[in-house]
Amino acid sequence: MAQYGHFDDANREFVITRPDTPLPWLNMLGQDEFYGLCTQTAGGYSFWKDARLRRLTRYRYNNNPMDNDGRFLYVKHGKSVWNPGWKPVRAELDGYECRHGLGYTQITGQKDGISVEQLMFIPANENLEVWKITVSNHTKKSQKFSIFPFVEFCSFEALNDMTNYQRTYSIGEVEVEGDAIYHKTEYRERRNHYTLFATTKKIAGYDTSRDAFVGVHNGLHDPKVLATGKCTNSKAFGWSPVGAFQLDFNLKPGATETFALILAYVDQGDLPKFDAPFVMNKTKGKQILAKYSDIAAVDAAFDAVKARWDSLLSVYQAPKVPNEHLRRMVNTWNQVQCMATFNLSRSASGYETGIGRGMGYRDSNQDILGFVHLLPERARQRILDIASTQLSDGTCFHQYQPLTKKGNADIGGGFNDDPLWLILSTAAYIRETKDLTILDEPCGYADKKGSRDTLLHHLETSIAYTLNNRGPHALPLIGHADWNDCLNLNCFSKEPNESFQVTGDIAGSKAESVMIAGLFLYAARDFSALYRFMGKEDDAKRIDSYYADMLKTVEEQAWDGSWYTRAFDAESRPIGSKSNKEGKIYIESQAWCVLGGAGQTNGRAKKALAAVDKYLYDKRYGCALQYPAYSEYHLELGEVTSYPPGYKENAGVFSHNNTWIHIGWAMFGEGEKALEYYLSICPSAKADHDVYRSEPYVYAQMTASHLSPTPGEAKNTWLTGTGAWSFVVAAQYILGVRPDFNGLVVDPCVPKKWKGFTVNRKYRGVQYAIEVKNPKGVSKGVKTLVVDGVKVKGNLIPIPTDGRTKVKVEVTLGA
Ligand code: GLC
Ligand code: GLC
Repeated sequence: MAQYGHFDDANREFVITRPDTPLPWLNMLGQDEFYGLCTQTAGGYSFWKDARLRRLTRYRYNNNPMDNDGRFLYVKHGKSVWNPGWKPVRAELDGYECRHGLGYTQITGQKDGISVEQLMFIPANENLEVWKITVSNHTKKSQKFSIFPFVEFCSFEALNDMTNYQRTYSIGEVEVEGDAIYHKTEYRERRNHYTLFATTKKIAGYDTSRDAFVGVHNGLHDPKVLATGKCTNSKAFGWSPVGAFQLDFNLKPGATETFALILAYVDQGDLPKFDAPFVMNKTKGKQILAKYSDIAAVDAAFDAVKARWDSLLSVYQAPKVPNEHLRRMVNTWNQVQCMATFNLSRSASGYETGIGRGMGYRDSNQDILGFVHLLPERARQRILDIASTQLSDGTCFHQYQPLTKKGNADIGGGFNDDPLWLILSTAAYIRETKDLTILDEPCGYADKKGSRDTLLHHLETSIAYTLNNRGPHALPLIGHADWNDCLNLNCFSKEPNESFQVTGDIAGSKAESVMIAGLFLYAARDFSALYRFMGKEDDAKRIDSYYADMLKTVEEQAWDGSWYTRAFDAESRPIGSKSNKEGKIYIESQAWCVLGGAGQTNGRAKKALAAVDKYLYDKRYGCALQYPAYSEYHLELGEVTSYPPGYKENAGVFSHNNTWIHIGWAMFGEGEKALEYYLSICPSAKADHDVYRSEPYVYAQMTASHLSPTPGEAKNTWLTGTGAWSFVVAAQYILGVRPDFNGLVVDPCVPKKWKGFTVNRKYRGVQYAIEVKNPKGVSKGVKTLVVDGVKVKGNLIPIPTDGRTKVKVEVTLGA
């Protein structure tokens, strides 16, 4: 476990002890409007709101060396040149440590008696990042040396910046004043914003031209200026503007010096743009620098970042969970990942380039499930934003841009699972808050501007959409794809240059999805429970009848003998059936049919889970998506058969869908299985980092499965629906404290050997201290529930009616 680092649970940090991790290990900074990606070597970039349209610093994805752009400090000490974060110079260090914390990364490097600590964070509600730098002389002599902070500016529109050199090489503009560099490319024309890179320490020189600082034929590992140790005070006119300073030190033995660097996105607002021709008005930039010139202000801002996380995490804490992996994930890192997926959807990470995908309709709805307890008011707004990208016929824009909140026309709609996820997120929000007013919010349809249709209307539209778009088996039509973006049953693509998702006409297609049917069952149950909570029994009954009808269809049409069929193709042939040569069994339909309540009375649900266990599961890595993996490309199935066997949607361990099976085991009271499965994809539980390779503190979207040539190797961390769903699994199904419309339900499903645990939960203004005991060694079943000394029937904790804000709950499990 300690190959590259370890958890420091008390400080809520992951400590990396050597910089050459198997892959870059990323942290996410920021949670308001300014964001930064930061790896263990200070790699990464920063942006305001939208990683494509407002990118401040450059980053070259798929670079070699990997992760070679970032927030670098070069130390020039005598002849030696080094970085505290090791890269890009990669000089051998005498000491190195990186602490990825909640919203900050602290990197410390030491060489020849000089240590440099770089603490990077984004103050709450500010459009800037601060690097607090602490430099110490540990030798017995005075030491003279220089530090050169360095960033490379991006001209805001990242795609243009990395593709359109005939333009970008001629537009770069900067100004330098005092100890600050102002990157003002395109500021004279339509931009009313600029990037500030400034230092609170007096500079001895600067460079703003990359050619001058780095050199055309040098690399970031051997910048020209570091050979001489003197900045050239270059001005960038076009080409590639950078921000570099020369900071000179003469430190006495044992002395320490602290200062800060600021990287800010500055919106000029109503201020005049210029003081004189070509001289920008720098009032705001100067105010920012003045504010953080006092290092006490830097420290206060950092303390506030930590305090905010403490407060957010205090909504849900389960301090005494016996399993350390589940404990640290559910209490800390899983919630941090939920914040990141909520904020960034699938836009910017080590794998998402920030220029491709915006907010996903289905992704963002699911992300809310793991986020809503943290900041329900933000979840509320998000739900309304998402709903507004639905069309009046029920189809949804599959993606939308965060800056404009407009649907992305290139991809359009027709992913037929999309509408249903809105019901899950809305129900989760109301279960958390009991705020029914959200249902009355007027959020019009994307094609009917100005209409006053409410959110409730959207939910009905979503249900109707599924009901009205069914195929020959009366199962829902799949459209371009369902949750499995790669099940492209109407694509028939022979052309390598086509998109799998949107190629092919879905208009008259017959291809059906059993997974959508299962999801419909789940959503319909949510919806009718919601109507009952609203006191609308007639509507609840109406939805119940849709449920019954779909359930009948599923049981009549989708049972394959030992598991649920996955889909029917455009010719109505089954997929995920024993009659198939490959791809005989898929995970998603087992999961959603079980979660939706199919197979409960006829034993099929248990059989479906047993089939998952037998054909898909591997204790070391998790469940493959299907079995056997496809060895050939199938026109009629699309992208799912395009991946080599054992990767991604072709029988890879796609973590996201594993979590639904975990819930299935918990529903059936299989505590051992639920935990064992949970741990099979849990990053903290991965022992061999040379095999796993990815960050041990956040979930990966995909691990190469036992059916692949590289089993156990994980990819695509941070921005995956696994974040939200794993939190739901751990908090609501294993530990079993689950918000419902009328209060918290306690319904744990744990290994029999667990003696108990505690959960502290803030919920609707009340602090619940819940203690669960398991004296009889069972997995499931609440025997007694005692609330503030009073015995209560069942497993619902009643909401206090006498204004109590602290409630003590004692739960005893047993038969
Ligand atoms: C990706 C997509 C998600 C999709 C999943 C399975 O994670 O973001 O929308 O459901 O892949 O294909
Ligand atoms: C590819 C990926 C899938 C992802 C989709 C997004 O199909 O395999 O995981 O959801 O791209 O467009």
